[in-house]
Amino acid sequence: MNWYNLPTYYDVSFSHEMREELLFLQNIFNSHCKSDRPSLIEPACGTGRLIIPLARSGFDCSGFDLNEHALSYLKDKLTRNKLKANIFHGDMTNFKIKRNKYDAAYCTVDTFRHLLSEKQAVQHLLNISKSLRKNGIYILGLHLIPEQGVADKITRWTAKRGRLTVKTTMEMLKLDKMNRTETLKVILNTKTEYINEKYDSIYKLRTYTLRQFHKLLSSTNVFEIVNCYDHFYDLSKPIKLNARSDYGVFVLRKKN
Ligand SMILES: C[S@@+](CC[C@H](N)C(=O)[O-])C[C@H]1O[C@@H](n2cnc3c(N)ncnc32)[C@H](O)[C@@H]1O
Repeated sequence: MNWYNLPTYYDVSFSHEMREELLFLQNIFNSHCKSDRPSLIEPACGTGRLIIPLARSGFDCSGFDLNEHALSYLKDKLTRNKLKANIFHGDMTNFKIKRNKYDAAYCTVDTFRHLLSEKQAVQHLLNISKSLRKNGIYILGLHLIPEQGVADKITRWTAKRGRLTVKTTMEMLKLDKMNRTETLKVILNTKTEYINEKYDSIYKLRTYTLRQFHKLLSSTNVFEIVNCYDHFYDLSKPIKLNARSDYGVFVLRKKN
């Protein structure tokens, strides 16, 4: 089972405690983008957990994903909420934009790590850079693995929406530092008064140490780092990431 094929459950699960993340994104877009209504693109936007509130706040939003279940969930939600966004089917490595370039792009919660090879990661960064205006901003958030020692193996959280409760358990089954992949298992326990179901999903993500991420950035040479943050998303407190940091949010600016 691929948990991205269960858009309602994914959306409830990942919308948990996203207030700081959303505020952070809004504040960055407002402070870095000159336009009155910044145009934004979210690669691999999924169910639009971020697009919906950003469109509601007045941003000109676009997003794409490979998963048709997530895309139709997002399009329905936009219609129900009388919101507009440009949503299309596309791949992070070779998407094409059919409009003016964007003021900013964003991709958090490890989505970038779905690109399992260095070549795909490079193609993605080059493509995002091409889709941004001069001085455009790209906000990229991902877990980093420590240079030494072990990363956390298991995370659990519970999210509710109306009568639906979704308990999520995310477990690292295997860390292969040689091939730079992490195998993850996600268990969703979903419950309402009528249902009580369990879904398992296993998939791989590419791993990055801080040094490997910096190396990738310099090899593409299309972005410079403006500032870094951690999972607290506190804009007033940029931090210096180090070899022990476990989540990094990089504010990148397109080099011209
Ligand atoms: C963790 S979800 C993130 C969704 C959304 N960005 C968010 O923040 O909630 C990862 C998403 O990446 C999508 N995805 C994975 N590989 C992709 C690719 N190569 N191109 C486009 N979408 C991809 C999946 O379908 C899924 O919707």
